Amino acid sequence: MARKILIWSGLLVVTSLHGETGYDAWLRYRALDVRALQQYRDAVPAVVATLAGSEVVESARGELIRGARGMLGRTLRMASGLPHENAIILGTIADLRKASPQIGIDAELKPDSYWLKTVAVDGNRYLVVTGPNARGVLYGVFALLRKVALGEPITKLDEQQFPYAPIRWVNQWDNLDGSVERGYGGRSIFWDHEHIREDVSRINDYGRLLASLGINGCSINNVNADHRLLTSGFFPQVAGIATELRKWGVQVVLSVDFASPKTLGALETFDPLDPRTAAWWSAKVDELYHAVPDLAGFVMKADSEGRAGPSTYGRTHADAANVVARALKRHGGLLLYRGFVYDHHMDWTNPKNDRARAADDNFRHLDGRFDDNVVVQIKNGPIDFQVREPASPLFGTLEKTNQAIELQITQEYMGQARHLVFLVPMWKETLDFDMHARGGGTPVKALASGKTFDRPTGGFVGVANVGLDENWMGNHLSQANLFGFGRLAWNPNLSASEIAREWTGLTFGNDPKVVETIASLQLSSWRTYENYTGPLGLQTLTDIVGNHYGVAVEASERNGWGQWHRADEHGVGMDRTAATGTGYIGQYRPAVARMYESRDSCPDDLLLFMHHVPYSYKLHSGKSVIQYIYDSHYDGAATVNKYAAEWKALKGRIDDQRYHDVLTQLEYQAGQAQVWRDAVTNWFLRASGIADEKGRVGNYPGRYEAESMKLDGYEVQDVTPWEAASGGKAIVCPGARCTAGLRYGGAAGWNTLHVQYFDQNTGASRFRFWVGSQLIDEWSADAHLPTRKIDGSSSTRRTISGIALRPGDEIRIEAIPYGGEAAAIDYIEILPDSN
Ligand code: GCU
Repeated sequence: MARKILIWSGLLVVTSLHGETGYDAWLRYRALDVRALQQYRDAVPAVVATLAGSEVVESARGELIRGARGMLGRTLRMASGLPHENAIILGTIADLRKASPQIGIDAELKPDSYWLKTVAVDGNRYLVVTGPNARGVLYGVFALLRKVALGEPITKLDEQQFPYAPIRWVNQWDNLDGSVERGYGGRSIFWDHEHIREDVSRINDYGRLLASLGINGCSINNVNADHRLLTSGFFPQVAGIATELRKWGVQVVLSVDFASPKTLGALETFDPLDPRTAAWWSAKVDELYHAVPDLAGFVMKADSEGRAGPSTYGRTHADAANVVARALKRHGGLLLYRGFVYDHHMDWTNPKNDRARAADDNFRHLDGRFDDNVVVQIKNGPIDFQVREPASPLFGTLEKTNQAIELQITQEYMGQARHLVFLVPMWKETLDFDMHARGGGTPVKALASGKTFDRPTGGFVGVANVGLDENWMGNHLSQANLFGFGRLAWNPNLSASEIAREWTGLTFGNDPKVVETIASLQLSSWRTYENYTGPLGLQTLTDIVGNHYGVAVEASERNGWGQWHRADEHGVGMDRTAATGTGYIGQYRPAVARMYESRDSCPDDLLLFMHHVPYSYKLHSGKSVIQYIYDSHYDGAATVNKYAAEWKALKGRIDDQRYHDVLTQLEYQAGQAQVWRDAVTNWFLRASGIADEKGRVGNYPGRYEAESMKLDGYEVQDVTPWEAASGGKAIVCPGARCTAGLRYGGAAGWNTLHVQYFDQNTGASRFRFWVGSQLIDEWSADAHLPTRKIDGSSSTRRTISGIALRPGDEIRIEAIPYGGEAAAIDYIEILPDSN
């Protein structure tokens, strides 16, 4: 792929630098440049012919016309049947067989596959886009358009592609009131005020995006399901959503609440073994299928995080799953039963307790007891979408049960679309990890898709949570995660680099400098984020009982949620060994267990997930754990600083709007990375009592703590957790106007100044920055960060560069609080410019 892009790169340039909102994502179809244009105009016939009517094939034809119009500036003429001229032919294999047996395109292909083939018939050249079903034809059209957009040859095509697994779904965690649980791209595209959204165009457009990746199912409500959705009054609305998605071959999935027979008021029980429960589900599902005949099925979360489940009646997960699955079965529906079952009131004082064990403990003994249309939906790791986790042992345990892997596209613990974190490299590590389930050669991707144990079905589920934001995800670069999920669900053998390059080419154009820069930012971003938020398997050191965003190293400890890292003055890490720990490692097959059980063979990246070690413990590199924690945080923060600088080199090569949006985001991220760096390193310095060999931690040249400045109106306040603010303190303004000042004591010269302040989401304070009597900068603290508090989530950096200072200069910040926000400040950093 990289090579092909390079070949064509000279031919394709970004022809339009006007602002782009990101709405079109990777389906922009921007005009090709003159040379490429000629090439593709010659290759693409003027006519598009369909062989039989079908809504999905019509979408395919519409998409082809749209793509050709955009990229080639030509409107293809529509025809039906085989025309007596060169044409693009769209139809299923059965349609082709009927229309023209001599065309010679015939094969038994797996559902949803596509075949692109150039053929000559009676002197006419046909570019045939076909598949065993209409969906395959649609996917073929998207593949063809992708080729044109990426500059790949299309003159002599004979390419068959088939999906790796039948289940390629996304889950949306949308609530009926229009909010989205863990959504960072705006409100629900489906629901508003307990009703389907009036304007359904976004639903249609989302269906198109999903189809372009080969995604064939979409759940439309929160996995923490609102039982009201199963009332008859909602069914026409569900049908309305299905109408939009169906055009794109995407089937609706509903999240259901297991207690519905009771909570909806029909029965006094939801006991899965009570025949009344079975009858209720059966009647309800029949009614639902009457409204939505092609519903793909349900996803169900039971006995987890307060959701009702079979344990109420002493029944098993298999009992619960089967009673619902049997109702779905006669309609061809699937039940995806969440494997995410654990006790969130665990006794943290018991060193044998371990949330990571939960999935395997809950499901191992039930293997073989689930009906064939049940699929256990297993999160990639045993905890909960942390920055690094091993593959869940359950993938390797289940042999006689269908499974699917659940990946989280929405960046809940991954910077919530405010930080650049491309998740494909992380997903690839899990998908390619050999569970040794049947000897070697059993990677998670093969297990999850049912290949290893010849299961009837299996696949991939991504928690997407797009919203009404123009760019769908709250951040242009985060779109790569949705794209990457879809591409991997289609073909998990694609490399992260192939996916990053393909996405960049489609989304930002094929200028090699653009592709190189953006792909390399994307590809390094997960490691970078890990470096400053939780290396060595510590998991994301965030506020796990709050917003899952800002830093709060101890939030995971001393509570029942079980995301413990057990760091104290002696050491750090969870002992999950079979020998002395929780026994979690023993849930893996012996070859994997052996590797994790021994500290020598356990990879450093997961050391603290698997073992409790002293801070002085030496990693494979010879570096101590504590020094690694310090170094990785400094590396991570420094790398994000470079991201913003690298991005600046793209000015003029991509459109201005997205250029500025991403630059703002990367600069914000650089400030946040420093907050994380300082918080985590100071916390571990205090815990371990071991100094940073390089003398950086606790020592910040050029930093003036706000609490040490000359304050007028401002008051000093302790920050919780203490590590979220430099020196553990901030200044807050209780009145209408406050100032904080200092006298500059450094050398004369040019400087960059950072003002670290707290942007709470309650208001929009104003800040004015003065040097002497000169107003240098002013801004509002009006960002929408996920906290009302003065803490690591609200900590924000304002950078003011190119300021000439002389010894003795008076520096002053004037603040006007507004809307319940305290105009709080942490510190000012004055750094001399290096050149
Ligand atoms: C996480 C997330 C919840 C979600 C849950 C789940 O814990 O924070 O919002 O409901 O996962 O996957 O069910």
